[in-house]
Amino acid sequence: MAENIFYNFLNEKSVFTDKSKISPHYAPDKLPFRDEQIKDLSLWLSPILKKAKPHNIFIYGKVGTGKTTVVRHVISQLEKFGKDQHLPLMTVYLNCRNYQTKYTILVYCVQLFYPEQNFFGYSRSFIYDKFLTYIKENKINFVLVLDEIDKVKEKEIDDLIYTLTRTNDELNGGSVSIICISNNIFFKNNLDSRTKSTLCEQEAVYPPYNADELRAILSQRIDIAFKKGVVRDSAINAAAAIAAKESGDARRAVMLLLRAGEIADLNNLSQVTDKEVYEAKEKVEQEVMKGMLLTLPVQLQLVLYAIAESSLKPKGILAISGIETADSNVLYSGEIYDKYCSLCEKYSEKGVSIRWFREYITELETYGFISTTISGKGVKGNTTLIRLGVDPQGIIELLKPEFES
Ligand SMILES: Nc1ncnc2c1ncn2[C@@H]1O[C@H](COP(=O)(O)OP(=O)(O)OP(=O)(O)O)[C@@H](O)[C@H]1O
Ligand SMILES: [Mg+2]
Repeated sequence: MAENIFYNFLNEKSVFTDKSKISPHYAPDKLPFRDEQIKDLSLWLSPILKKAKPHNIFIYGKVGTGKTTVVRHVISQLEKFGKDQHLPLMTVYLNCRNYQTKYTILVYCVQLFYPEQNFFGYSRSFIYDKFLTYIKENKINFVLVLDEIDKVKEKEIDDLIYTLTRTNDELNGGSVSIICISNNIFFKNNLDSRTKSTLCEQEAVYPPYNADELRAILSQRIDIAFKKGVVRDSAINAAAAIAAKESGDARRAVMLLLRAGEIADLNNLSQVTDKEVYEAKEKVEQEVMKGMLLTLPVQLQLVLYAIAESSLKPKGILAISGIETADSNVLYSGEIYDKYCSLCEKYSEKGVSIRWFREYITELETYGFISTTISGKGVKGNTTLIRLGVDPQGIIELLKPEFES
């Protein structure tokens, strides 16, 4: 019988020893340059060791600054410690991208508390009751991590945080505390002041990594993911420099080396150099953009979608307005607002007022999706002109399934 075809893959020459270790999903045991953040977080959680309620914590930082990795690292250590010491504690991590309402978040927790039961379809009050009863009866100190908290539907956030923290008033032993994570600088502005002070009992801002730090982070990964000596210094320097220049994003740096290694394999090369890293750059940019798009809050996605659709349909505005730079990609904020409102209606989302809409435009600009200028006099007074900085078709293809699913 012929040899199994999969043996070909085993024999294939590769620059990797264990590719999974250079994947952005891999969480290393050691997290250089985050000692201080790990220390703070464990300190804020430490009351739990005395069966007391830990602080609520809010963590903010730009993409790829290690927020998720640090928090998961600390809570997994806490879990292990709790088991060893027989402490009544429980930690749960969830990403709000997948759980966007108070109901789905509480159902997720209750399902973990009572795994043998199915809670699908029960009323909100029943679910909350179950949640409270479990914590009451077991007197556990419960820590809930809500990663990408800005993904929770806007009208639900205050209620979610209020409900979770209010639970403590009804407990006599045991506690509920939350760790919320966000990379959205505007997130806190939209909270009501009581929610803000409850959530931000302790707060941390994770700084972006500089090029030296990224080089060290990469070197640590290269040792365990690549064959010895195959990754040249020029490749590490290039990946660190690109990622530092963009936003100090460790995920981008890691992905650059992963894709550069794949390019080397594809071309049967025995070394990874800066050439492969620069070749990987465009692909990684697209992947990063895709990741960012999918993690934007729904309202921002809708505004961006409105801009993308409008920029595919130039309507001769320029002829009317007489903008000198006959640039058919420039759009009026007013026309985008109208488009946004019709999309909200189409997808049954509650639209926001023009004031909030303007904030969203500013947010999209800080993310680098669009650029804006104020028109000169004569163009409908002083109006904001918007230009999309990314491919509109790509945005529509990515976001359409999100809205229509
Ligand atoms: N200090 C570090 N040491 C080693 N690897 C790190 C460090 N910080 C981040 N990373 C790696 O960078 C990648 C991104 O980190 P992480 O997912 O924690 O970022 P984040 O701040 O949560 O980003 P986002 O806002 O996009 O969710 C992961 O692969 C992680 O392992
Ligand atoms: Mg994260």
